[in-house]
Amino acid sequence: MERPGWVSDEVDITVPNAARVYDFALGGFHNFEVDRMFFERAEEMWPGLRLIAHANRAYLRRVVQWLTAAGVRQFLDVGSGIPTLGNVHETAPDATVVYVDIDPVAVSHGRAILAGHPHATAIRADLRRPEDILGHPEVTDLVDFTRPVAVLLIAVLHFVPDEDKPADIIARYRDAVVGGSYIALSHGIHTTDLTDEQEKVRDLYRHTPTPVITRTPAEVAGMVAGLELVPPGIVPVTDWHPDPGGDEEPQPAILAAVGRTP
Ligand SMILES: C[S@@+](CC[C@H](N)C(=O)[O-])C[C@H]1O[C@@H](n2cnc3c(N)ncnc32)[C@H](O)[C@@H]1O
Repeated sequence: MERPGWVSDEVDITVPNAARVYDFALGGFHNFEVDRMFFERAEEMWPGLRLIAHANRAYLRRVVQWLTAAGVRQFLDVGSGIPTLGNVHETAPDATVVYVDIDPVAVSHGRAILAGHPHATAIRADLRRPEDILGHPEVTDLVDFTRPVAVLLIAVLHFVPDEDKPADIIARYRDAVVGGSYIALSHGIHTTDLTDEQEKVRDLYRHTPTPVITRTPAEVAGMVAGLELVPPGIVPVTDWHPDPGGDEEPQPAILAAVGRTP
């Protein structure tokens, strides 16, 4: 398999990877044959998968618009993915934005498109180590932690296994930011009517370096305990402040929640 020039040697292009598979689902170009084949197989099992990816990305845009209208000017987009359509710094051009991802392709592409940008950057870090992110020199240079920050954890917590205690991780971000900040997330869940399809796709991901852990709505609620939930609360991403006149098909397999820190 030929290695494109923009891919560093540390990137294994022989196994599918969540960041690149999602990039392909959204119509991006930073993915390899192995990622495309993986997604096409997953989509055969669960034909609605591409729509879910698009609905999630649309929710990200709406949540950034909503937070901007609420006065937030600083975003930590954690598990930001490969920059594609609708990046946070495009939706909120005046805001300070730090993209964080564990994936080297996501970060190198993010750094390339943000080179010279005065108030946006991309860093490589693991969200399970909040202190590495909050204390990262590029983060402390750009983000004023005496002012509200929105921590975005969109479609990433379902890659964090239970043993890493995702609710505790969120609590560490919550406790590190000033009151009146926000934590926004979306999370793949189990639903009764999609279980077979989800099970098959989950099995597929199980054989990748990035298995998916879907959770119940109650588990998602546990993750935002201690935050003041922004109405309408924990709902399918498509029901979270939908665009007026929008006609998105409801996507119950991925829930949204946005909370304000005390
Ligand atoms: C499905 S993409 C979501 C991208 C973007 N947040 C969105 O919703 O459009 C998930 C991203 O989370 C990243 N990721 C997974 N585990 C991570 C971790 N422990 N720390 C940081 N990023 C992680 C993956 O590399 C991938 O880019």
